[in-house]
Amino acid sequence: MEKTGQREQWGSRLGFILATAGSAIGLGNIWRFPYAAGENGGAAFIIIYLIAVILIGFPLMCTEVALGRKTQKNPVGAFSALAPGKPWRIVGMLIVIVAAFILSYYSIIGGWSLAYMTKSVAAGFKPGVNYEELFGGHISKIGEPILWHGLFMILTLAIIESGVIKGIQKWSKILMPSLFFLLIAMAIRSLTLPGASGGIEFFLKPDFSKITFSTIQAAISQAFYSLSIGMGPLITYGSYLSRDDNITDNVGWVAGMDTLVAIIAGLAIFPAVFAMGYDPDAGAGLAFITLPAVFSQMPGGSVFGFIFFLLLSVAALTSSMSLLEVVVAWLIDERGWERKKASIGLGIIVFIIGLPATLGYSVLSDVKFLGMDLLDTYDFITNNMVLPITGLFTCLFAAYVWKTENVMEEINNPKGKISFGSLYRILIMVIIPIAVCFIMIMNLIEKFGA
Ligand code: TRP
Repeated sequence: MEKTGQREQWGSRLGFILATAGSAIGLGNIWRFPYAAGENGGAAFIIIYLIAVILIGFPLMCTEVALGRKTQKNPVGAFSALAPGKPWRIVGMLIVIVAAFILSYYSIIGGWSLAYMTKSVAAGFKPGVNYEELFGGHISKIGEPILWHGLFMILTLAIIESGVIKGIQKWSKILMPSLFFLLIAMAIRSLTLPGASGGIEFFLKPDFSKITFSTIQAAISQAFYSLSIGMGPLITYGSYLSRDDNITDNVGWVAGMDTLVAIIAGLAIFPAVFAMGYDPDAGAGLAFITLPAVFSQMPGGSVFGFIFFLLLSVAALTSSMSLLEVVVAWLIDERGWERKKASIGLGIIVFIIGLPATLGYSVLSDVKFLGMDLLDTYDFITNNMVLPITGLFTCLFAAYVWKTENVMEEINNPKGKISFGSLYRILIMVIIPIAVCFIMIMNLIEKFGA
């Protein structure tokens, strides 16, 4: 029960599982995973991805949740509670800042999605429209995308402002089941179209010859991104988890749901794309250009178009909630702010941080970083550069500062179906840090190399 001055706790185990799954399940599941699988050897990639989730993602997620539950704090407070002094506080701070930056562009994409959802009700998806121009036209306006970005931020802050139980938990319990339901409806529609098999083949046909170092890198990076590792939500949501709940079982559910949604998303998207004779594409182009064109050709396309953008908005909203909560929890714990003030104030600040990225398609379209527009730059810096660093430091912190036996004590108490032993120690002390350094170096070579 909520008492003043006392930290709120999830009302039930399900509250934690659905909220954390909501954080993990996002744009990464819907457009990043299916395409990465299709490009990198289909089922062969999925097998490597599963190994990455089990050996790297799952132990790191449990570690972050344990860090939050042990300290009952936001990322900055959590690191400083176990290692007083500046250096680790800086890592916590980096996590909080990055969460704010990711949120700022997540909210822009969430805004595009809301805009397309309303457009699909107003106008439907008709054939004969050039959807590339339509999308380009939408994002290169000035006022409209800013308005939708603002609206998306208002939705996010309104939920966070209501608190852990009345906001995050309540809305996760409504939004997550809806998301599953909508996604399954989309998958059934897509798989029953004539010509769907081309898409299934693209997505799932195993091609082990495509497995190279860069496939492994793609799988590990995707696992990090998709499970929201190294960015604070796991620590923060873990800090609201009861001491009576087992960490491994709960996190197992979250990782399992995240993977399942990614696979179903592939089955919802590619069969339809191939059945209508389009080429698969990655990222925003797939969701906002290819799919609208696909819907325009498909029987019942306007309804499924609406369902798709509703689903995308919901997926983005549950992730953006968790990002805002990271920063809000920091202001509440460390600076003694009230939740209401913190949510509104930060909502406004994050909205402003996002403005250059929205304007990157209009007035600021000449501003480029390594050939990327501003939104892609935000994404690149946060996800490709900072996420591995915070992930690496979290891992080193658990292994060498907090110490694995203490982490395991927190994780294994109370005991669940999976309990952590010496394998965890080897993973967290040696294997995971090496794997993270490997992806960091590969990322840098890819972008800056010859
Ligand atoms: N996991 C999210 C997705 O799949 C993306 C993401 C990365 C994220 N880091 C995050 C979401 C931190 C919330 C918080 O789309």
